[in-house]
Amino acid sequence: MVAYISKNFSLGLIVILSLFVVSSYARLSMMVTKGEIDAICTKKGVNSTLCFEVLKPTPEISTLDISGLAKFVINYENQKVSDTQMHVTLFAVIFKSINASKELCSAYQKCAYLYKDVSNSLDSSLKALAAKDYIALNVGVGASITKTNTCGHYLSTTKQMIPKDNQSIAEDLLMENTVIKDLFDIILVTLKRLEKKKY
Ligand SMILES: *[C@@H]1O[C@H](CO)[C@@H](O)[C@H](O)[C@H]1NC(C)=O
Ligand SMILES: *[C@@H]1O[C@H](CO)[C@@H](O)[C@H](O)[C@H]1NC(C)=O
Repeated sequence: MVAYISKNFSLGLIVILSLFVVSSYARLSMMVTKGEIDAICTKKGVNSTLCFEVLKPTPEISTLDISGLAKFVINYENQKVSDTQMHVTLFAVIFKSINASKELCSAYQKCAYLYKDVSNSLDSSLKALAAKDYIALNVGVGASITKTNTCGHYLSTTKQMIPKDNQSIAEDLLMENTVIKDLFDIILVTLKRLEKKKY
């Protein structure tokens, strides 16, 4: 009787242990591997320096699956866009206060609105990602890239209107604009790999 119980007990234990091993293996196999990040960051058109910097193997990143990785990059992008939006808004106010040209003030004001739109769109992207609505995701990202490019156009065409010795303001903002564009490339590639895996 004791032998019977103990035999059943160990069988049960083995079943439970196997389930545990199988489920943690399944979890592991969903996680993003180093190979996956290499594939994203070395894709043509991706700024690999920036990509490896953003997706450096931190404890947080190593627990993510590819959908989690997409979410991570979208959040990272949203932070950058919000920061840049704040900088552009600040300079729009400053230019207005020093009576800079109407065209310069208006360009910065429009740029601030565009970044605000991009930031809102990234919020929607997170919802689309959660709903696995890849069409809405790609359309939203496409529109955001256009708005980011338009902003870059405003910044570069009004650079000469900035009071002397301060034109580096435009250069710095254009650099931030480039990082935002580069991050969108990383988002697009990540989404493409996500769609291929059909998670
Ligand atoms: C890639 O991104 C880094 C960091 O933003 C930047 O310094 C570098 O100039 C970029 N490289 C290219 C080729 O655009
Ligand atoms: C800007 O213009 C306003 C109204 O014309 C004037 O009162 C103000 O002193 C000007 N500010 C500067 C910094 O020139």
